[in-house]
Amino acid sequence: MLSFDGRVAIVTGSGRGLGASHAKFLAARGAAVVVNDLGGSAQGTGSSAAPAEEVVAEIVANGGRAVANFDSVSDNPEGIVRTAIDAFGRLDILVNNAGINQVHAFGPDILPSIKRHMEVHFFGTAGVTAAAWPHLIESGSGRIVNTTSPTLIGFPEQTPYVAAKGAIFAFTRTLAFEAAPVGIKVNAIAPTAATRMSDEADLPEEFKQFMRDNLPTSLVSPVVAYLAHEACAINGEVIQAQGGEAQRLVLGFNKGFTSKDLTPELVQEHLDEILDPATHVPFDRIEKQDLSAVGK
Ligand code: NAI
Repeated sequence: MLSFDGRVAIVTGSGRGLGASHAKFLAARGAAVVVNDLGGSAQGTGSSAAPAEEVVAEIVANGGRAVANFDSVSDNPEGIVRTAIDAFGRLDILVNNAGINQVHAFGPDILPSIKRHMEVHFFGTAGVTAAAWPHLIESGSGRIVNTTSPTLIGFPEQTPYVAAKGAIFAFTRTLAFEAAPVGIKVNAIAPTAATRMSDEADLPEEFKQFMRDNLPTSLVSPVVAYLAHEACAINGEVIQAQGGEAQRLVLGFNKGFTSKDLTPELVQEHLDEILDPATHVPFDRIEKQDLSAVGK
């Protein structure tokens, strides 16, 4: 069994939903956990200490070790990391999970929403990761698990949310190159689970009921736990996790069309080849990629 005895983890946004499930799962397997949560609404307004306090109380009542932190990931990432060091003296695992979701049709008034989503999702992830970095190096087997989304394929009226999740996807992919030489592994999940966020999302009621019946948070946390464990063998990967499925989510390219005399007309003429899904191949795993030719 993969044990987390002696390990210290931060799970951001773990007062509710997926984060609470991850925090309880890691704690049940021996990790000491910082339960960080600002405690606001699903849209990102307000704050409350209650959600983080309740999860900590449940972990402690079950014999585990946990402390609460109420900082916003976007306002005080250093404070969240300091809580782990002050309480437990080390940091091995960072699960960047905190998130908000506002449905907003695209138009001239969209920028504040885009900025807000980038602040929480992307700058929250990047900021806590940066503050944790030296401690994760010191751990000797530092692990970072980010949270992107299956909505990366596109979702109507969620440009701010999906764009911020796209930034986390790219952040995970490229940080993996700098993580490997210092003993850190950074991966991401693209989850789907019934939570407050999905309940308040603009989704058909039948699908929400399907999620409640079939997609519990408890079937996402085992993927997070594997990626958080020192035995994790992958770096720079994104795993879609929903209802017990774990699948690689890839960036890919296809054979396409090539001409040294390329013209817009040739692009128009060969569009079927340029977009052909039948010749699609994913990029290789980070550790197998040869970047020596990049920029030459
Ligand atoms: P949730 O709304 O139940 O939980 C999110 C938690 O993050 C809340 O407790 C909230 O207080 C906290 N939070 C929000 N802003 C914060 C901040 N600035 N600092 C600290 N904590 C903050 O939502 P859920 O569904 O559990 O979402 C967790 C993550 O999974 C999010 O990143 C979300 O975007 C992602 N996700 C969820 C999906 C789903 O199907 N539920 C689908 C795809 C991604």
